Amino acid sequence: YKIEKPANEPVLSYRPGSPEREELKAKLKELKSREIEIPLIIGGKEVKTGDFGECRMPHDHQHRLAVYHKAGPKEIEMAIEAAREAKKEWARMAWEDRIAIFRKAAELLAGPYRSLLNAATMLGQSKNVFQAEIDSACELIDFFRFNTYYATQIYKDQPYSPVGFWNRMEYRPLEGFVFAVTPFNFTSIAGNLPTSPAMLGNTVLWKPASSAIYSAYYIMKLLEEAGLPPGVINFIPGSGSKVGDYVLASPELAGIHFTGSTEVFKSMWRTVGENIEKYNTYPRIVGETGGKDFVFVHESAQVAPVVTALIRGAFEYQGQKCSAASRAYIPDNRWEEIKEELLAQISELKMGSPEDFTNFVNAVIDKNAYQSIKEYIDYAKAHEDAEILIGGNCDDSKGYFIEPTVILAKTPDFKTMREEIFGPVLTVYVYDADKYEETLHICDQTSPYGLTGSIFAQDRKAIVLAEDILVNAAGNFYINDKPTGAVVGQQPFGGSRASGTNDKAGSYLNLLRWVSPRAIKETF
Ligand code: ALA
Repeated sequence: YKIEKPANEPVLSYRPGSPEREELKAKLKELKSREIEIPLIIGGKEVKTGDFGECRMPHDHQHRLAVYHKAGPKEIEMAIEAAREAKKEWARMAWEDRIAIFRKAAELLAGPYRSLLNAATMLGQSKNVFQAEIDSACELIDFFRFNTYYATQIYKDQPYSPVGFWNRMEYRPLEGFVFAVTPFNFTSIAGNLPTSPAMLGNTVLWKPASSAIYSAYYIMKLLEEAGLPPGVINFIPGSGSKVGDYVLASPELAGIHFTGSTEVFKSMWRTVGENIEKYNTYPRIVGETGGKDFVFVHESAQVAPVVTALIRGAFEYQGQKCSAASRAYIPDNRWEEIKEELLAQISELKMGSPEDFTNFVNAVIDKNAYQSIKEYIDYAKAHEDAEILIGGNCDDSKGYFIEPTVILAKTPDFKTMREEIFGPVLTVYVYDADKYEETLHICDQTSPYGLTGSIFAQDRKAIVLAEDILVNAAGNFYINDKPTGAVVGQQPFGGSRASGTNDKAGSYLNLLRWVSPRAIKETF
């Protein structure tokens, strides 16, 4: 097989008058004009439980987009059974036929499904058009295309056979099902976590985040249209802890593919430990969790890219990215010029509904997120070691709006320098430019996470020092760029420490976790 490495899907501009803009506007209108009912999808069949949850727009919480049915123990049993049944054919199907389905899904998403997934993400998750386009269109298309390419590389990798023998590697799927638990903040991750194990012949139970079931449901419809056989991915929204506890108690659990909070991931890991005697095999646990991602500026840095990185890194999608820039270290001899430009540009950012394409900042995902972010801001307002430089106002009367906020911390271990906030809040610590190396060590030790981070410097020695001291502080390390926006096939994504198992989404390293190979030796 000669399969070319794919190119990344080009980002559309949505310029006024462009066809994509007109199509998207029409789709937004259409989705807003009707409420839908979202069933579970188990073994290819729609299942309704009558135990309802709601999908509401974060920027206009009176507007309901959908009601969805929640899975209970009976439906989880059904989903496990469906996964077991579907596996019999799916695992034995030629891998070329399996991956054809995901390549078709990429083409459908690049074409007719693009406006649907973008509109669903904009309305259901309050994401502006550009953030939606790079996520629910380009990144998900890239995951489908690149992962199928990596799968072909895995299947083709065969061992040496001396004369008289034939050695083979059979890349079997795991023995059992994979449990995919997906987050609200990226539609692409929601699509990637169940599909990447499925490409390798696994069958999956998929529990999407309750706050992003709307777009997740449309991913499921896309996969069905692409030809995914019934039962390969079973869609089971529901209460996280109830679904989780039940699924994790199954002897057939063979893997977990998770993105979400550190606390939930740790608790799942503990439950797996408690149940270890029950399983038929050791479940593979792959997780990507939180971050407390840094932008570290050396005195040799240029101002303009630092300011852009801080604004885009901290405030795009309201800072609700595990990769978001949430703490910055700025040298005292460059602070005044950086501060002036930073505050001037932040004051220009427009906040409001994503349906108005000129709004850069939209609402945070829900009431819980709103309250938790506001508590951090209120804490900083009340504390003598902090000063709010800009923003700090919150308003949930119509939607969950929080202004882009910059906190100046007087100590490097101030609470908002250490803890993940998952909102549009950036904390800055101004350090003594003569203490660059010492402050790099402080940065390394301030938070338990290790996901992303950036160094800004023109001086190569300063860059090398940062690379060295921060070696475990960021699984994705950026030099003179923002710490967000990893591109599939270009920057495999993931971190270690409390941020996860660093199994690099968007690379063959991740796909290797979903096979349990058999090495066969035949002697002639
Ligand atoms: N992959 C996403 C980013 O890099 C989370 O921002």
